[in-house]
Amino acid sequence: MNILLLGSGGREHALAWKLAQSPACDTLFAAPGNPGIAQHSVLVDLAATDHAAVLAFCADQRIGLVVIGPEAPLVDGLADSLREAGVPVFGPSRLAAQLEGSKGFTKDLCRRASIPTAGYVRVTSKAEGIGALAPFGLPVVIKADGLAAGKGVIIAMTRAEAEAALEDMFSGSFGDAGAEVVIEEFMTGEEASFFALTDGTSILPFGSAQDHKRVGDGDTGPNTGGMGAYSPAPVLTPALEARVIGEIIKPTVATMAAEGMPYSGVLYAGLMLTPTGPKLIEYNARFGDPECQVLMMRLQDDLVTLLLAVAQGKLAQHPTVTLSADSALTVVMAANGYPGTPEKGGSITGIETAEAAGAKVFHAGTSLVSDTLVASGGRVLNVTATGATVREAQAKAYAAVDAIDFATGFCRRDIGWREIEREAVA
Ligand code: AMP
Ligand code: GLY
Repeated sequence: MNILLLGSGGREHALAWKLAQSPACDTLFAAPGNPGIAQHSVLVDLAATDHAAVLAFCADQRIGLVVIGPEAPLVDGLADSLREAGVPVFGPSRLAAQLEGSKGFTKDLCRRASIPTAGYVRVTSKAEGIGALAPFGLPVVIKADGLAAGKGVIIAMTRAEAEAALEDMFSGSFGDAGAEVVIEEFMTGEEASFFALTDGTSILPFGSAQDHKRVGDGDTGPNTGGMGAYSPAPVLTPALEARVIGEIIKPTVATMAAEGMPYSGVLYAGLMLTPTGPKLIEYNARFGDPECQVLMMRLQDDLVTLLLAVAQGKLAQHPTVTLSADSALTVVMAANGYPGTPEKGGSITGIETAEAAGAKVFHAGTSLVSDTLVASGGRVLNVTATGATVREAQAKAYAAVDAIDFATGFCRRDIGWREIEREAVA
């Protein structure tokens, strides 16, 4: 079967690496891809926003499965266009992708389905927002409703900060994403991510991970798309995972189906493990980046078979996903300046040495300029390793990081710290 993968980040490199290993995969095409993805696929110049061009390419190349990596094409309805044309696609419809595309939509769904989450109100103007702040304690969380690349969330420590965040969002700093705002109660606890495949009916747990969203060591500095991750996240114990599936994932999938918006794809739940149990922070309608990289390192099954079963509504035929008992850990090497304006063009060498030391290096924001690999984005490389413990995976990942020469880049040195502290006292 020929497969088309859409996207260009480290998540898509990890997906390409696994898809290409499948005996069911004849030619893997990727658009737009990156130099790492090109090691496993044929890169094509195709814009995910041009649905007609994607459909024409699928017809020309007899594509049997399209895998959509990032959220924007999902929210834009690309999966609907493909499904209407009879092309099997891994990724939810436009309506189902509202679970990521509109925070207010997800909060309302939680209310209808009694899913545990932070208390909230939806507001459509600054005045309404200021009026709605009174019942909330401090800190209070102010969120742009739409897609804001992880930057649309402000934790306001004072009422003045909350008002300033409302002012900022309603004055257009997040564009259309900030036309509506959600004000939320602040939750305390440790965060973890949980993934499940679903075809709208069946649910297949796909493991847990913990991301590191802040740019600096010790979880300091501004939020990023994620500076590193490890999987599994043992803080999400089997008992908590069972609660997440029963109290959060199942009612979501059932309610979406009952309301005529069946969700097909991977459901990524961002969770807060509060003193009273797991609560949903947010949903994403795709694999996490960099969480996907660590999940793919642990996946023992054929990814094409699994994603095709989701696309064809046959997930019930695949009762389990097999993930290695090992821990996988990935360190993001970012370009100086990230998450602000990253420095582009810095050269990168040493990836082969890093991989010879037992790591896997996924490309995120890289380009080839006359045969030299250079940085072309904020997050540049994902240096990934496995081990019997998180500590062991971390040691291997940082040994590989140290083999890479990327003078204009940086990384956090403490990925996995929460679990390593727990391992140390266990
Ligand atoms: P989100 O984009 O909704 O995942 O939010 C980004 C980050 O903001 C989360 O990973 C949390 O660290 C934090 N956050 C979001 N909502 C809340 C909340 N209600 N209480 C506490 N922290 C939150
Ligand atoms: N790493 C967070 C995300 O993919 O949304």
